[in-house]
Amino acid sequence: MLGEVRITPSILNADKSHLQEEIAKIAAVSDLLHLDIMDNQFVPNLTWDFDAAHAIIKGSPLPVDSHLMVADVDQIAVAYAEVGSASVTVHAEACANIRQTLRSIKAHGSRASLALKPGTPISDYAEFFDEVDMVLIMTVEPGFGGQKFMVEMMTKVAETKKLIGSRDIWLQVDGGVSLETIEIARSAGADTFVAGSAVFSSSDPAQMVNALRARAMGL
Ligand code: DX5
Ligand code: ZN
Repeated sequence: MLGEVRITPSILNADKSHLQEEIAKIAAVSDLLHLDIMDNQFVPNLTWDFDAAHAIIKGSPLPVDSHLMVADVDQIAVAYAEVGSASVTVHAEACANIRQTLRSIKAHGSRASLALKPGTPISDYAEFFDEVDMVLIMTVEPGFGGQKFMVEMMTKVAETKKLIGSRDIWLQVDGGVSLETIEIARSAGADTFVAGSAVFSSSDPAQMVNALRARAMGL
């Protein structure tokens, strides 16, 4: 299948005591670094706080794709844009004012992205497509790495692709993406792929990023 493919490794399950080394392994071959922010409220897990995330964003050799899995996300999303995230993703389920938050993210220089949990239908959110640079369809329940890819989400990915039409909006999937699942997500219409454990549990993370890209491109 023709078209652009982006691979965005997630450092959620990377070795956090050697984060810079982990990031350096995939920097030359990846498009963006996917940073999962969790607050133990919107999801039952806790990751980096804002200061720690800011340090990662500042020090990253790759542009950072901040995926905010936090409650009451509207204000903090703008702060993640302000500190230089290349892209800020907010969950529709956690936003009080989706349109305004997406606009503020963009006004602060980041790409604006809207994410949906597996149980949230896309048809309710197509009205925001004029404000978004990316849509993220979760292929696991957000919260943890290493979960099984939900193949039943491919209907929603295909529906989203259709709703995007000719607009320049990236379509991302996140959760359980591996050499076994990336082709089916690509066939359904995804072009931007988060991969956490597939990359960082590999003995050669850079080679895995290249292999995922090749598989998505049908090579
Ligand atoms: C899960 C996170 C994912 C996670 C993916 O809620 O949003 O980005 O790191 O990990 P894998 O690729 O292992 O499913
Ligand atoms: Zn994520």
